Amino acid sequence: MKKLRVLSGMQPSGRMHLGNLIGALQNWIKLQEENECFFFVADWHAISTNYENTKDIKENIIQMLIDWLACGLDPVKSTLFIQSKVEEHAILHLLLSMITPVSWLERNPTYKEQITQIKNKDLSTYGFLGYPVLQSADILIYKANAVPVGIDQLPHLELTREIARRFNFLYNAKLVEPAPLLTDIPKLPGTDGRKMSKSYNNAIYLSDPVDVFENKVKNLITDPARVRRTDKGNPDVCTAFVFHKIYSSADDVSQIDKDCRAATIGCTDCKKRLLERMKMAIKPIWEKREALLSDTKKVFDIAEQGSIKAKRIASDVLKEVKEAMRI
Ligand code: TRP
Ligand code: SF4
Repeated sequence: MKKLRVLSGMQPSGRMHLGNLIGALQNWIKLQEENECFFFVADWHAISTNYENTKDIKENIIQMLIDWLACGLDPVKSTLFIQSKVEEHAILHLLLSMITPVSWLERNPTYKEQITQIKNKDLSTYGFLGYPVLQSADILIYKANAVPVGIDQLPHLELTREIARRFNFLYNAKLVEPAPLLTDIPKLPGTDGRKMSKSYNNAIYLSDPVDVFENKVKNLITDPARVRRTDKGNPDVCTAFVFHKIYSSADDVSQIDKDCRAATIGCTDCKKRLLERMKMAIKPIWEKREALLSDTKKVFDIAEQGSIKAKRIASDVLKEVKEAMRI
């Protein structure tokens, strides 16, 4: 018996970087072993913040699917699909929007933060305000009970639960209130030590050519107080060390910790060792990426099959919803 019905989505906002891989994908890959998993590309959500430029969405969808598959999401174990291929999400979104108070959406902290922080885009649309209602539909249409997300998504999950409760109360229905699954995997910093992000220009991409990748690792910021080779270092403030903790063995990590503090290892050597480890871990992903890039038909087929499978469940739940509403 599979333990939980797990569902999550990701916006196709371009190439994936190691931060996405370590933060979300690694967790999904683990979850698919023991649970019934649905993972989808949230292409409609991507339009909400980017409606003026939709021409790259198709390409971004395929790139994201390639990255997912290359990293180890397995279409045999998980249902992998594209949101817009399962139009039931949109119908449920419409129905849920009828019962969702605008005040719930306006007080959503993620919404308020984005409205004040993102100045270069027009976010004053109906679709953007309703973003979490679409997200609720994504989740509720599968009666998913667990949703792996980052902390930034918790308000959306809470809203999903509130909407489900309200719907069940109004129509005596049985939508499932989903619980968030938070990862214990540490956040990966970017090359400059800040959070790894496309917009900070500090990301290491799975699609980086080998020489670019090598240079980024070699230039990872280290303990800034360690100026000379003979200066004793502090791994706790070193970005390269965070990478070691993810890519090197526990023994290596504690050895490096000691050597760094005693200045018996230099940063250049330390990062060379890191690079070897990272290449070992990432080489199979690169190889699989290459293979998939030259067989995009296979990738589309996987998404097509996944979407058909997802649609079967989604249309059953939608039927139930309509019956509950007597429409
Ligand atoms: N909003 C999510 C994000 O930006 C993506 C998403 C859309 C999602 N629908 C979802 C995540 C449903 C979990 C469940 O990361
Ligand atoms: Fe960081 Fe390694 Fe340099 Fe220590 S030796 S500061 S852990 S790169």
